Amino acid sequence: MTRKLFVTTALPYANGPLHIGHVMEYIQADTWVRFQRMRGAEVHFVCADDAHGAPIMIAAEKAGLTPQAFVAQIAAGRKPYFDGFHIAFDHWHSTDAPENHALAQAIYRDLKAGDLIASRVVEQLFDPDKGMFLPDRFVKGECPRCGSADQYGDNCEVCGAVYAPTDLKNPRSTLSGATPVLRSSEHFFFKLSDPRCVAFLESWTQDGRLQPEVANKVKEWFVRDEHGKPLLGDWDISREAPYFGIEIPDAPGKYFYVWLDAPVGYLASLQARFAALGLDVNAYLADPAVEQIHFIGKDIVTFHTLFWPAMLKFSGRKTPDRVYVHGHLTVSGEKMSKSRGTGISPLRYLELGLNAEWLRYYICAKLTARVEDLDFNPEDFAARVNSDLVGKYINIASRSAGFISKRFGGVLSADLGVEGRMLLDALRAPADSIAELFDQREFAKALREVMALADRVNAYVDQHKPWELAKQPDAAAVLHDVCSTCIEAFRLLTLYLKPVLPALAAQVEAFLQIAPLQWADAQRALGAHAIGAYQHLMQRVDPAKLEALMPVPVEEAPPAHPGGEPIAPVIHIDDFAKVDLRVAKILKAEVVEGSTKLLRLTLDVGEAAPRNVFSGIAANYKPEELTGKLTVMVANLAPRKMKFGNSEGMVLAASHADEKAVPGVYVLEPWPGAVPGLRIR
Ligand code: 2FM
Ligand code: ZN
Repeated sequence: MTRKLFVTTALPYANGPLHIGHVMEYIQADTWVRFQRMRGAEVHFVCADDAHGAPIMIAAEKAGLTPQAFVAQIAAGRKPYFDGFHIAFDHWHSTDAPENHALAQAIYRDLKAGDLIASRVVEQLFDPDKGMFLPDRFVKGECPRCGSADQYGDNCEVCGAVYAPTDLKNPRSTLSGATPVLRSSEHFFFKLSDPRCVAFLESWTQDGRLQPEVANKVKEWFVRDEHGKPLLGDWDISREAPYFGIEIPDAPGKYFYVWLDAPVGYLASLQARFAALGLDVNAYLADPAVEQIHFIGKDIVTFHTLFWPAMLKFSGRKTPDRVYVHGHLTVSGEKMSKSRGTGISPLRYLELGLNAEWLRYYICAKLTARVEDLDFNPEDFAARVNSDLVGKYINIASRSAGFISKRFGGVLSADLGVEGRMLLDALRAPADSIAELFDQREFAKALREVMALADRVNAYVDQHKPWELAKQPDAAAVLHDVCSTCIEAFRLLTLYLKPVLPALAAQVEAFLQIAPLQWADAQRALGAHAIGAYQHLMQRVDPAKLEALMPVPVEEAPPAHPGGEPIAPVIHIDDFAKVDLRVAKILKAEVVEGSTKLLRLTLDVGEAAPRNVFSGIAANYKPEELTGKLTVMVANLAPRKMKFGNSEGMVLAASHADEKAVPGVYVLEPWPGAVPGLRIR
């Protein structure tokens, strides 16, 4: 039976160019789709730009464009990637397109009719200058745990604490610098905690359709607390104006959160394709034979295995049949990060003249059906491509094709000899098992099998040595059989590699003068067929070009020190011993007339007479808070003449290097038991 497949890849945010991680996902899905088509499946392979959300709205504003113009500009830059890497989407759409507005609103109405939308008042940080609620990443302040300055609203990069933006100390809006205020507004929630949703999702995620490790992870959402309540809670799906998104029906000034309408974009893109083809998309989606399959990365599993299927199910729509999750791409073992320059630019790859199919092959040669990260390593890349593609596969044609043209008028032998026929039988036999591996997304295993077959063909060539047969006047028939066997073997290997190497396969089809290869052609033979002239099909990887591709890693900036300054250069114990620190009792603390900064302290350091010290802590302490307390002072500091009198030492206090940005001065206090005059050592 012909499979009917509706296949998507995750919709990239329309806020920047595609990176190598996107390209990896597209290559995986495209290879799978090409394979299914070779087996006769009917496929609709679609994607779109994910256009909405606060970050895109703000990026557009910065660029001086409307959000619509901004995302249009991004969308216009997509084509070179798809053409360059032979990624054959049938349709590319936008989540801001009218179909998506209508579909997202229709889905929402259906959920509401099913009593699955609730409304609640939510308190959030609001930027009074910008007049908007602030998403977490647009609030910065001091970490509530370690006090580090300049931390985002969701977690601290210095100590790793995770918190709500409202927990930040001295928060400010990164958009305007204003101090945000708490403001409440009405939000809409998708009631995922409704028993209907929980029951549906628990079975949907655990019925074997997901990869085992994904199903396991998702299971955590169904763990019950002591009241029998699962962890899965309601999902906040609304945002307040101004927001670039889709308006919520009957709720003026409220928009869908970008993640609500993003996956709806899969359906909108399919709908647009069907409209272009003059076909009925609803009839298609109602067909139980249609399989809906989403390729995604491991970071967006929750959206695709909980929120999205529930949205579809409870709005009366078809739910996904499969969600195929892949790991992330690392470069030479490092997580990609723009700031550290570890990504590789897909367009630069193409501009350098590196062959797109090398990358397709390399990625597929490492892809499995599991959620594993995949490493791009330049040495490994060159070795893999040179040894497998050029050394094993292309070599078969380049060692045999010339003789067919020069000696046999370009026509293959139909006989091939016993050994030739045996070899080819061995190459045809695993067609189904290789197909099974492709279907299972076990590309690495499939390609290992294909390369093992190539090894057998090369062993056959080495054994029969056509270049020696060519020198023997009476060996023409054998030479013809051997070289024809090689060409037939090359055709079979090309067939198996075609999902991965579509452009090369097209060149081979032209050279062999055959129709586009389908999977079933594995069981056919060329016979006494005329082929074209062989032209070299693939170069070896030029290491210099590969080197030019690799990013120069930028020295990682040291993490910001919470004190605002690095630790001072090393001193020795005798440097320290020069400073005489003593426990001092604050006998008196007084406001200094004419100074807002200074307090006058009268300190007992165990001497005959108390000392007079001026200390710049007036902003932080009231005199009465200090009187009678113990503290620490530098007792051997040269006295300093000040406007208000002599200062005979210095009281120790902690503060941030940038006291203006991070205010706060904290006087030291010894533990109980210390008495005035004790030395600190
Ligand atoms: O994580 C992302 O890049 C999202 N733009 C993916 C959206 S996938 C789908 F839901 F639209
Ligand atoms: Zn911290």
